[in-house]
Amino acid sequence: MSFEVCKLGSALGAEIKGLDLCQKLDANTIAALHTAWSEHLVLLFRDQPLTPEQQIGFSRYFGELDDHAAIPKFRHANHPEILLVNNREAATNKRLSVGRQWHSDLSTTLRPAKGSLLHAVQLPSVGGDTLFCNMYRAWEGLSPLLQQWLGDRSAVHDMTIARETRLQRTPAELQEIALRNPPVLQPICRAHDTTGRKALYVSEMTTSHIDGLTKEESQPLLEYLYKRSTLHENVYRHVWRRGDSILWDNRCVMHIALADYDASENRSMHRTTLMGNPSGRLASIA
Ligand code: SIN
Repeated sequence: MSFEVCKLGSALGAEIKGLDLCQKLDANTIAALHTAWSEHLVLLFRDQPLTPEQQIGFSRYFGELDDHAAIPKFRHANHPEILLVNNREAATNKRLSVGRQWHSDLSTTLRPAKGSLLHAVQLPSVGGDTLFCNMYRAWEGLSPLLQQWLGDRSAVHDMTIARETRLQRTPAELQEIALRNPPVLQPICRAHDTTGRKALYVSEMTTSHIDGLTKEESQPLLEYLYKRSTLHENVYRHVWRRGDSILWDNRCVMHIALADYDASENRSMHRTTLMGNPSGRLASIA
């Protein structure tokens, strides 16, 4: 099956045209998709009204799927491979805001996500956009001396420091999250396991500090790294249409969901998460 690859942004992103994701794909097509993914980091597939089964089936072409055991509250009732990224809690209809700081999925675990595929089920009338930034370029833009200093250091990633988590969870819930997800140390620079290219790996949502520095010492440097990573020229902004699916590479991309829409409207997305290679170690036994 052949398809067209059309660039969406100068730093990252491409649309794949001419594929029906519900059909079984042959080995050559899958290999060509992997190549396009390595080159463009974020792939968009338009007009694909996927059922959960079809999304799971397509996602499996790219690797093993997470069952979202770390966030059981937001799993699809019949398909644990689907994470419900909704702005309302199903049981209570309470408003939720999710993913509102730059991050890379599951960086707070010892098996950070390789990739994620987000499928738009329901969208607000305007807005609800997602931004993606290229973390290869973020690393490559640093001076050799700073690269050298950061290159063999680690940073602590902690799920409980995420702004939305702190705002929306009770102290008891935060304690439970902390017990279930103790902070981990991740390398600040990681070589991509397919391309070998180095990427910066810190994020405002989860990185609490650089190992060996105090939080106060770390913060200005981390802020500088976040600012460099998310410069306009390093970002692709996606304006969603219903039926869009986007596959991104968490090893070299960060993303953020914008609050640029009327919160009384519904936004509902289905995410599958591809398991990555083991990375990092528990901060408590470092
Ligand atoms: C996510 O953070 O995984 C979801 C991003 C979005 O809802 O746009």
